[in-house]
Amino acid sequence: MSRIFFWGQFLERMSLESLAKNQVDRLNEVGRLVSNFNNVFDLAQLLEKILASARALTKCEAGTIYLARAGRLVFAQSQNDYLDRIVNDPSDLPFFNRDIEINRSTLAGYVALERRPLTINDTSSIHPEAPYQHFTGFDSESSYVCQAIMTLPLSTSGSDPLGVLQLINPLGDDGLLTCFSDEDERILTFFGDFAAQAIEKSLTMGSAITHNVEIISSQDPLETRAHATRVATIATAIYDHWSKKHGVKEETRLRALNLLPLAAMLHDVGKIYVPKRVLTKPGRLDPKERILMENHVIAGAKMYGDAFTPLDEIIRSIILDHHERWDGQGYPGRAAGSDEMPKLIQGKKGEEISLFGRIVAVADVYDALSNYRTYKKAFDQTLALQIIEQESGRHFDPQVVESFMAIKPQLNRIKAQYPDPPLEEMTQKIEKDRARDAEEQKEETGEN
Ligand code: C2E
Ligand code: SIN
Ligand code: SIN
Ligand code: SIN
Ligand code: FE
Ligand code: FE
Repeated sequence: MSRIFFWGQFLERMSLESLAKNQVDRLNEVGRLVSNFNNVFDLAQLLEKILASARALTKCEAGTIYLARAGRLVFAQSQNDYLDRIVNDPSDLPFFNRDIEINRSTLAGYVALERRPLTINDTSSIHPEAPYQHFTGFDSESSYVCQAIMTLPLSTSGSDPLGVLQLINPLGDDGLLTCFSDEDERILTFFGDFAAQAIEKSLTMGSAITHNVEIISSQDPLETRAHATRVATIATAIYDHWSKKHGVKEETRLRALNLLPLAAMLHDVGKIYVPKRVLTKPGRLDPKERILMENHVIAGAKMYGDAFTPLDEIIRSIILDHHERWDGQGYPGRAAGSDEMPKLIQGKKGEEISLFGRIVAVADVYDALSNYRTYKKAFDQTLALQIIEQESGRHFDPQVVESFMAIKPQLNRIKAQYPDPPLEEMTQKIEKDRARDAEEQKEETGEN
């Protein structure tokens, strides 16, 4: 009798200890996973990491991250192992690019407003009087049933949530659906705090960069956020291909893929130092104007003269090198040591030009060719591609051109995804600015 009692106690203690050990293991796992979020500035890459990590912690088959934008929750990241096995193109999934209103009627909206986690282990038996119901529209479109859903707010201290993390259908070791435990919710709440901080950092970085681009476009309406984003997206796709082909270490690759999309957007920040009448001149530039224009490279690089983070350093090398040419005839290198340009700048050719500079050169010229400029019409894609091909080995690094040609199928999608504002709008703005500047000049000379 007492012997049995003893064993019972022992077993009970055993399981408590192993439970505690399991908790410690899981917390260590949280620590290991969130340390990977450090310095991931690229939002898409970060959200993918966060969702994959949260799913790994709970062994969930699916999950979604929503971000709050203009009073709505936008599907920003979605993963579903089950649907991945049966759907070829993720854009076929019904929730791709969708958003929902923030109100208490959905699980995600309820959690965003209440700022508290909510775990539902059986969505088919939510009390009919509950303020929220599981919105089944997406389920029926995709024919995937979300039975167990844990929904967590992603917020940094005190603020409205940046978004919502939803974990769907935890699987047991046998691969069958199980339930979320209270511990799952506690662990994921802890995890969610780190995730929210990382998201906030990435959003802050992203908006600092887009604001810089907005400042340039206030000077030159053709140097738009869309142009900057297209150049950055094309450059990143080129690097993705190039780095795989050249066997770049995965760690280096991911790091570069994280920094390049942000850095490449700023290739022309120096244009804020170029007089507006030069930037928006309808015709070709004369030699004097050309010098003022080319100065955007040095002026931009000076803005990052004290580069002290890896991102700053990459931005600086892109600004400085994006108009260098493979054959050495680019600038500022070409002009180095001449009267116009101080000897500070070393002329560059071939692989002396940074890889990112060589890549952004191709992306930038392709985008300039295939879009309207005050001094030229948009060329059709065939002609734009032809010019890039012709310049391989002269203006451009042949290997970079090769990778650019390999990503050709993506170019139309990128153009459609980030369209320029309507041509009329841009030309009207240029005309208005010009008229205003002329008016101001008249006033000034009138007063004197
Ligand atoms: P952007 O308009 O963004 O053009 C970037 C680069 O694309 C140019 O660098 C050039 O290498 C290439 N590109 C643009 N249009 C053509 C073209 O019709 N044919 C060929 N083969 N390449 C082209 P680039 O020449 O150093 O110019 C830098 C920036 O200077 C341009 O940026 C633009 O803002 C300005 N710019 C250049 N030429 C003119 C011009 O004739 N008139 C005016 N108003 N601005 C110009
Ligand atoms: C909800 O939060 O109820 C909508 C999202 C979903 O159906 O997964
Ligand atoms: C790399 O990150 O692969 C090299 C970067 C560079 O050469 O500029
Ligand atoms: C230009 O036409 O503005 C530059 C020529 C080139 O990109 O090779
Ligand atoms: Fe430029
Ligand atoms: Fe540009």
